[in-house]
Amino acid sequence: MPIPKVFIARRIFQEALDMISAEADVELWSDELPPPYETLLQKVANVDGLLCLLTDKIDAQLMDAAPNLRSISQIAVGFENIDVEEATRRGIPVGYTPGVLTGTTADMAFALLMAAARRLVEGAEAVRAGKWKTWHPLHYLGPDVFGGTLGILGMGRIGLEMAKRAQGFDMPILYYDVYRRPKDVEKQYNMTYAPIDTVLRQSDFVSVHVNLTPETYHLISHHELHLMKSNAVLINAARGPVIDPAALYLALKEGQIGFAALDVTEPEPITMDDPLLTLDNCIIVPHIASASVPTRLRMSTMAAENLLAGLNGQPMPNCVNPEVYEK
Ligand code: GLV
Repeated sequence: MPIPKVFIARRIFQEALDMISAEADVELWSDELPPPYETLLQKVANVDGLLCLLTDKIDAQLMDAAPNLRSISQIAVGFENIDVEEATRRGIPVGYTPGVLTGTTADMAFALLMAAARRLVEGAEAVRAGKWKTWHPLHYLGPDVFGGTLGILGMGRIGLEMAKRAQGFDMPILYYDVYRRPKDVEKQYNMTYAPIDTVLRQSDFVSVHVNLTPETYHLISHHELHLMKSNAVLINAARGPVIDPAALYLALKEGQIGFAALDVTEPEPITMDDPLLTLDNCIIVPHIASASVPTRLRMSTMAAENLLAGLNGQPMPNCVNPEVYEK
């Protein structure tokens, strides 16, 4: 059998690259920025396998441009950039990397919570700017983290890890999800299931952990932000478009809520003229919640395993559309 051709849309850990190079003829996109869509169309023309990221649009047109494509492997747990239905229709398995980034992402959400509450970014920036003149009883005040009520929207894998972290800070938890967790889990983590409005009204911290779907697009907008406490902290390490950025700006500016801390934005990257960037009470980091060395390494090798399984006609260990194997 001829050696399969693979396009890898960004630099990945060497371990993963070695795994793929041992079995395939690899072309690697080594630029820091993603290949432009038109370039990607050309790059996939002869490939059997594609290793891609959230920032690459993988749609029907791209699959048309890649008639030999039989394995798509994404380095991410999310896959909203891929037309999975179209891939399934064509019998192409799509791989992803669930599970491994759960704890790492929850760590970041909790770090954002603490950074916003205790004004870490403002404080650190002030020191560098030479603005640390004295100890002042009224400077850099924020809410206590310990004992505060944590509202979690979306009690999936990452939401539950967030709840676990909150135990160490004696935080009671209110949560909403379309699926309720079993009573023993609720008891174990001091979690109370409540309607979304109650979670928003009664929480000191609200952390968003839902998937992006048509139902969750702008889930948090004017109405929801008005329900929240005036000193509440809103954290988003899920997907930017779950929060309406214009509504968030107004809420932060007018003091309807206290702080926001975002790992994700709409759009990504955020544009430099976005008014959220003018606010002291909003921390934004560049979608780095899964960026620990062990997690990104494991994501890379998992993506390599999925890609190779797809090329070898074996079931991908982590496949978004396993129904392709039933055909
Ligand atoms: C990151 O956001 C991912 O989906 O893995």
